[in-house]
Amino acid sequence: MLWSRLLLIACGVTAGALVAASAASTASARARSQDETPFVNASSPVAAGEYLTVVAGCQDCHTAGWVEKKGNVPPEDRLAGNPVGFYGSWGTSYAKNLRQIADREGEEHWVQVMRTADGGDGKLPMPWHNASKFSDRDLRAMYQYTKSLGPKPLRLPRGTQPGVKPTGSYIDLMVKDSTSK
Ligand code: HEC
Repeated sequence: MLWSRLLLIACGVTAGALVAASAASTASARARSQDETPFVNASSPVAAGEYLTVVAGCQDCHTAGWVEKKGNVPPEDRLAGNPVGFYGSWGTSYAKNLRQIADREGEEHWVQVMRTADGGDGKLPMPWHNASKFSDRDLRAMYQYTKSLGPKPLRLPRGTQPGVKPTGSYIDLMVKDSTSK
């Protein structure tokens, strides 16, 4: 009798502790899944986006002259695409005019393109393999910053197929082996 009561109390304690423990672990799992996706903390999404497009290297490719001018390009000339092509095994690609894209397409489209490497069609050297790993908040912040710059029509040359050299200026990204004849 006494033993069975003790056993019941012990079971009750254990069950109660288990419920409490599992509630705590659900809460901490929720907190963890939020914490584990880092994002930039700034005064606004636009400010976060501006910061990200600089430190994540987007401007290096998508802003004409950014590298040559060491980043001294005013906001009105940023992210409007780069007419210097990237020539490699994929043919020639151009870092697109992100302002026209942000003006034409919505935020969901932007997130989708970045997450899926443009549905699998995205060409190099756009770092799709890294871009797909941004947190949602950071991806949206970059969209909002780009959109805040407003549209800036600037036409880029057409890309070329593999093996076809472009006609304008381009950077050669073909791998060369100095030891082979
Ligand atoms: C090394 C150069 C390079 C860097 C760095 C780079 N891009 Fe790109 N990006 C490109 C090229 C080239 C393309 C065109 C790819 C193609 O034609 O498929 C492109 C395409 C895109 C597109 C697709 C536009 C569309 O709808 O077709 C988006 C969006 C984009 N880049 C955003 C970014 C953002 C945001 C960053 C920074 C996190 C970034 N890029 C960094 C070169 C670059």
